[in-house]
Amino acid sequence: MKARLPFAPDELAAVRRPLASARLLPVAAYANPDVLAFEMERIFHRAWLCVAREQDLPVPGSWMLSHATPAGLLLVRAQDRTLRAFHNVCPHRASSLVRGERGRFARVQCPYHGWTFSLEGALIGAPHTMKLRNFRREDHALRSLPTSVWEGFVFVRPSGDSPSLPRYLSPVPEPLARFDLASLVRARSVEHIVRANWKLLAENFAESHHFPYVHPELNRLTPYGRSASLPTRGRWQGGTMQLAAGVETVSMDGATHDRPLLAARDEVDRGKVYDFLLWPNLLLSVQPDYLLTYRLWPIDCRTTRVVAEIHFAPGTSPAKPCATQDVFEFWDRTNAQDRDACERQQIGVESGAYAPGRYAEVEDGTQRFDQMVVQAYLGK
Ligand SMILES: [Fe+2]
Repeated sequence: MKARLPFAPDELAAVRRPLASARLLPVAAYANPDVLAFEMERIFHRAWLCVAREQDLPVPGSWMLSHATPAGLLLVRAQDRTLRAFHNVCPHRASSLVRGERGRFARVQCPYHGWTFSLEGALIGAPHTMKLRNFRREDHALRSLPTSVWEGFVFVRPSGDSPSLPRYLSPVPEPLARFDLASLVRARSVEHIVRANWKLLAENFAESHHFPYVHPELNRLTPYGRSASLPTRGRWQGGTMQLAAGVETVSMDGATHDRPLLAARDEVDRGKVYDFLLWPNLLLSVQPDYLLTYRLWPIDCRTTRVVAEIHFAPGTSPAKPCATQDVFEFWDRTNAQDRDACERQQIGVESGAYAPGRYAEVEDGTQRFDQMVVQAYLGK
C-alpha cells in the first residue's frame, strides 16, 4: 500500500522541517484517490472514531446511521442497553440494512429479502434457507465492532489493532478534562457536504490566522493575535484564544444571556476558548457556555461530509429561541465562511498552478496536523 503513495521523499521531508523552512503537504495529498484510500485504511479504520452522542441512542431499539465508512455503520442500543455498531451491509446479498438516518425498531430487517437480525446482531430470520446444506445461522450474524463511550461521545473502532479507548485518548488535555462534557445536551446537529479534501478543513480549524480576512465578526470577539498553541500530547493537539475585553462568549451579541457556563469552569478559564483536534477527525471547541464539535468524514478525495453540532450545559432551554438562536446564527455564518474558504483552496490545489506553499509563522497548528498526516504516510 505504501508503495502506491505518489509522494517523493523530499516532499514529505519538507513538511517535517522546522516551521521556518517547512512546506505544506504535496498536492496529491488533496487530490489523489489512492491517497484517500490509504488514509481510510491506515488512518481512519485504525482509529477510534467518534460517531455519535449517547443521547442519539436513548432506549433499546434506537438506531442511527453513521457515515464513518462508505456503506455506513449502523449504531444500535441493544436490549441490554449496550451499544452495538454493525456494518450497514446484509450478509445475504450485500444490501444496505437501513434506509434513512435514525429511528427505532424491535429488530433489524434487510429491505431486500427480509433477513432479520436481533438488536444484538443474531440472525433470527432467513427465508428459504431451511434446506440449504451446511447453513448455520450463527455464521451469518452481524458482527459487532468495538464500541466505547467517553464523556457521552460514542466511539467505534472499524478495524485493525488499536489500544482501548481510554488508552487511545490518554492523556486527555488538562483543560478539556476540567469540563463535565458528559452532562452536555446537544441542541443542534447540521450536516454539510463540502467540496474540499478533509485535511483542508482540519488545517483550517488548526489556525486563526484567517480570522481577520474570513471571519471579521469572529475576529472582533476572539482576536487572532490573542491565540496560543497548547503542547501536542498523544493524539490531541490544541490551542487557546482569549475573548476580547467585555465579551462574554462567541455569539451574535457576545453575551451569554441566561445560559449557564459549562460545569467545572473556574476563574482560570474565564474569558477563554479552547480548541482541540483529536486525531484524525474530531474537532472540539470549548466556549464559555457551549461546546462545538465537528466530525469530518471523507466522501472522496475532494468531498467531505461535516457534521457540526452544538452542545449546551443542562439548564439551557432550547425551547426558548432566544436562549440559543444567537449562537446558532453566529456559527451558521462562520461555518459557511470556512466552507467557502476551503472550497476555494481545493480548486486552487487542483488547478495545476499550485505547488506546496510555505507556512506563515502563526500556522504552527496547521503544520502540526500535517506532520501527523506525514507520520501516517510514513507508517510511523
Ligand atoms: Fe475559520
